[in-house]
Amino acid sequence: MKIIHVDDYYEMSKRAAEIVSNQLKLKPDSVLGLATGDTPLGMYRELIKKYKGAHIDFSKVKTFNLDEYCNLNKNNKQSYSYYMRENFFKHINISRRNINIPNGMAKDITKETFEYERKIINSGGIDLQILGIGTNGHIGFNEPQVKFEALTHMVNLDKQTIRDNARFFNSIEEVPTKAISMGIKTIMHARKIILLASGIKKAHVVYKSIYGEIKPTMPASVLQLHQNVICIVDKEASSKLYLNKSIRFLGGN
Ligand code: F6R
Repeated sequence: MKIIHVDDYYEMSKRAAEIVSNQLKLKPDSVLGLATGDTPLGMYRELIKKYKGAHIDFSKVKTFNLDEYCNLNKNNKQSYSYYMRENFFKHINISRRNINIPNGMAKDITKETFEYERKIINSGGIDLQILGIGTNGHIGFNEPQVKFEALTHMVNLDKQTIRDNARFFNSIEEVPTKAISMGIKTIMHARKIILLASGIKKAHVVYKSIYGEIKPTMPASVLQLHQNVICIVDKEASSKLYLNKSIRFLGGN
């Protein structure tokens, strides 16, 4: 795992956008795995700037989002479809037919999860996957106790995730309790992964994911087994990593 240390959220976002932009220069028809939440918002802003400055082109890019709530219409402001449209897709030249987000309103959710996985495979697989991390260590909506061998599936959201995400809703009761998420196996099949973490509330899970035991109770710890992960952490999120300075040597490369 390569760890990139940056000062703050802004720098994290710029570094992530640079990596995505370089990926598109090398392979204009890249398949990107995308995340929602607060963490990647700055990266999307930077990518939009690059697009408007004619530095990148999304016309051949395909995207697959990590997850979507069940039972939220895609025009609902809290849905991840809405988030992606408003914060990224409507500002760039991506073709609508190249955008993929799980359909949490599907009548047959199991069929939807199989089809989502099949679409990823048919697209040639994910070249670059962007990840944030939950305060319980989840990636996508792979909550603690997830099976590492899971592909895209329906999940019951963890109580901690529901509490964390209540900030986007009028009340905690409105937060959906189920979602569709790429599985850990789906994520681990990506050729390259960028894990982003910013802020003090992520410090403990960043530490456990990078140096802790690899176990389903800390889903992001599985990333230690991937050959090509770049972790971009700001000062606060990395503040527990190097309490013992000798560890820094092990982590840096
Ligand atoms: C979002 C996702 C989640 C978030 C995580 C962190 O698509 O898959 O795993 O990345 O919950 O959320 P924020 O960035 O809001 O702290």
